[in-house]
Amino acid sequence: MSDTLATHRSWWIGRNGSDARRLESCYPRVQEDIHTRVAIIGGGITGLSTALELLERGYDVAVFESAVIGCGTTGGSTGHIDAHPEGGTSSLSRVLGLNKARQAVALRLDAIDAVERRVNGDCEFQRLPAYFYSENPDDANSLREQGELALRMGLNVDQLATVPYPNAACGYRIDDMARIDSLAYVKHLARMVSDRGGRIFENSLVAGPVETRPESLDVNGSKVHFDEVVVAVHCNDTDALYLYLETPPYQSYVLAARVSDPPPDALYWDNANPYFYTRRASTSDPKLLLIGGCDHRTGTDDPIEAERRLEEYAREHFAVEEIVCRWSAELFEPTDGLPMIGKVPGKENVWIATGFSGIGLTWGTAAGGLLARQINGESVPLEKDLSPSRFGVLGLATMAAEQMTTAVNLAERILPASTINPHGLKPGEGKVGMVDGVHAAICRDHAGCEHRLSPICTHMGGVVHWNAAARTWDCPVHGGRFTADGRRLYGPPESPLEAVSAKPVHIKISEE
Ligand SMILES: Cc1cc2nc3c(=O)[nH]c(=O)nc-3n(C[C@H](O)[C@H](O)[C@H](O)COP(=O)(O)OP(=O)(O)OC[C@H]3O[C@@H](n4cnc5c(N)ncnc54)[C@H](O)[C@@H]3O)c2cc1C
Ligand code: FES
Repeated sequence: MSDTLATHRSWWIGRNGSDARRLESCYPRVQEDIHTRVAIIGGGITGLSTALELLERGYDVAVFESAVIGCGTTGGSTGHIDAHPEGGTSSLSRVLGLNKARQAVALRLDAIDAVERRVNGDCEFQRLPAYFYSENPDDANSLREQGELALRMGLNVDQLATVPYPNAACGYRIDDMARIDSLAYVKHLARMVSDRGGRIFENSLVAGPVETRPESLDVNGSKVHFDEVVVAVHCNDTDALYLYLETPPYQSYVLAARVSDPPPDALYWDNANPYFYTRRASTSDPKLLLIGGCDHRTGTDDPIEAERRLEEYAREHFAVEEIVCRWSAELFEPTDGLPMIGKVPGKENVWIATGFSGIGLTWGTAAGGLLARQINGESVPLEKDLSPSRFGVLGLATMAAEQMTTAVNLAERILPASTINPHGLKPGEGKVGMVDGVHAAICRDHAGCEHRLSPICTHMGGVVHWNAAARTWDCPVHGGRFTADGRRLYGPPESPLEAVSAKPVHIKISEE
């Protein structure tokens, strides 16, 4: 077993009987210089789909994963596979116009087909209907209009008088969507890449590219040399600062609940903002549901309260027998509603795919084909609309509003901080403030051990916040995450939080 931590404790990890935070390492770490035609940074659905598509076109590829395959957001997703526009059909039509919106939907429908072909009956891939609904009867007209647009965008839609979900008042059904075990799928993709001659390295963190035309990057004290490099780490990890502004980080919450009254096997999501969604966890256990929602900008809400609201929602809608597990993970919300897939602005050979919001299983798969074709010199649909260099006025207001969080966070560096008494800190608690005269991020783990760290994120100086649900330090600025003892867990930071020089206080805990 690797001692690498996953960024979440998803049901997929737990179901395989493994320690909820550990995943098995199956590939070597980089120990010497590597030469490859295309270097792919990130071993999630996006990086591995890109690798497969490039291998099919005859390219030599190497994939570098900072931890282990499956530890990223793909292994922490809920495995909904759908092609419905996440922000609604009218919003997508406003951003792109109907013809291009059809193309965007077609890219995601093709992605579903590609996943089905690749799993070849494995990974619990199951075609299912999906239901988009509202609990408010007054939304009937607007949902009917959305459904009509969805039909014109190429989805197989049926307007419904009733939706088979508790409290649903109106909505429509979309046929031929799917669900999958997303952790099994990402591991399956890695085996496909390896079987086709692609090289995969785990425990190999690659430094983000900063030059206009990088030819090599640092990895574990060695170098990877390449012609082209693909950044597929879920978020931005380049020096193109504009991309951070366009894709702010959000936390999203999931619980697995065993219920006595499950709805028919399908995907369900409502039109609330943020939306709630529900699906069956696996084919073999009809009473086990995955229920998600309560998203909020990283570092701006109380994660324990978000988990409480999600549980309340579950209990309001179902007869819950047992909460089996819960977890949260991060997503990157594009301010204009479209992902960024293409060449990084100002770079000659650096490609990126990010800003997938909550639908990255289809967009990540589609990105694989789009990036491979562009690297191969082919033109692709929606090239300009998905380009990371695009500048659209539609996202400007959202972008400005999102920057308030960053401004408030950076002010925390200079405003007077409250004093914390380390003796008063309970197990599982963490705070940022003055400890023995030093500005510190301090927490106590469940064994009673105190961790005293610099609160300054090692990426670009944000002030980290304690996430009491996941027991991590999260940076609201670009979504960097660290373990309780300061190790890098996720996102753009490449190094751990620094320790502060003061004697930590440990307390004895009688019981875990
Ligand atoms: C709670 C939750 C539920 C979701 N559910 C769904 C869903 O049901 N359906 C759907 O379509 N989408 C869903 N999404 C979104 C979807 O999971 C993601 O968009 C998608 O998995 C992103 O895939 P990725 O490959 O880009 O990133 P990841 O899966 O995160 O992979 C990126 C990998 O890069 C590695 N990495 C990072 N930095 C480096 C570095 N410097 N060097 C080397 N490696 C590095 C990471 O360790 C990670 O393994 C959900 C998101 C969340 C948060
Ligand atoms: S400042 Fe960028 S992740 Fe913290």
